[in-house]
Amino acid sequence: MGLNVRFLSMTLLAGATLASVGCSRLDMQDQPKYKPQRPSEFFADGRDGRPELDGTIARGELNEDTAYYNGKDATGKDIDTFPIAVDKAVIQRGHQRYDIYCAPCHGRLGNGMGMIVQRGFKQPPSYHIDRLRNAPVGHFFDVVTNGYGAMLNYSQQIQVRDRWAIVAYIRALQYSQNASANDLPLEARAKLPPAGQAMSSEMKDAMSHEPMAPADADFTNFPAQPATPAGVPGAAGAGIYKSSNDAAAAKTAATPKSPEKK
Ligand code: HEC
Repeated sequence: MGLNVRFLSMTLLAGATLASVGCSRLDMQDQPKYKPQRPSEFFADGRDGRPELDGTIARGELNEDTAYYNGKDATGKDIDTFPIAVDKAVIQRGHQRYDIYCAPCHGRLGNGMGMIVQRGFKQPPSYHIDRLRNAPVGHFFDVVTNGYGAMLNYSQQIQVRDRWAIVAYIRALQYSQNASANDLPLEARAKLPPAGQAMSSEMKDAMSHEPMAPADADFTNFPAQPATPAGVPGAAGAGIYKSSNDAAAAKTAATPKSPEKK
């Protein structure tokens, strides 16, 4: 019995305490505050939302490295050396991304005859014309990042590092179509007709098909790239180049980095 009385009085006490807290509104609920997008009589422009101060940068988006993020040097000119170290894994990654994102219009070979073009879309220039063979790598990065004429930009779909990988692969494509006989491996050179002689029917047949992109296997002649400066986000071996079906590429890959977007 005694227990019950004690229990009852405790319950009543607790209830009374709660009720008194509930009734007194002298707490944070009554403080003066703005709700989003409401008018303000305090600020001269009549808005409660305050504009960002000049020079405000979203956290994690400083993107100071203009070469890497914009393909431009300090003076705003397109850069002509890759801001990432280019190795076989990078080119393979670029090959894969290129075939997904660019080949539908530009063709697997970069000749501008992709399926969408065959169905009527504006034909892009071939990558193998002199102007584009001589264009700096920063130009290709800029086209993918910002679009060009009838071509939309791919900055939302393709991460910065992958854009550079694609540009590296385009360089490989260009090289594949402008190589001299001396650039071929010996056994391939042996198949060439002697100077001045017609091609074999086997070779003519091979060339009459949609040309294949260069095999991944041999990029040993790919022009050497300068080492990536320390601290550049695209330093060699970043793990996002790991390709699930390529053990060799996986071997060169290190810990994955968090993906960055522009
Ligand atoms: C939907 C079709 C389409 C896709 C997909 C596409 N492009 Fe293009 N691209 C074009 C067209 C069309 C042009 C020519 C635009 C013009 O001159 O108006 C062009 C032009 C270009 C040029 C030449 C710019 C110059 O200086 O003349 C480059 C380089 C290029 N694209 C790269 C790429 C890359 C890299 C990708 C993949 C990430 C890609 N494009 C995907 C249609 C496409």
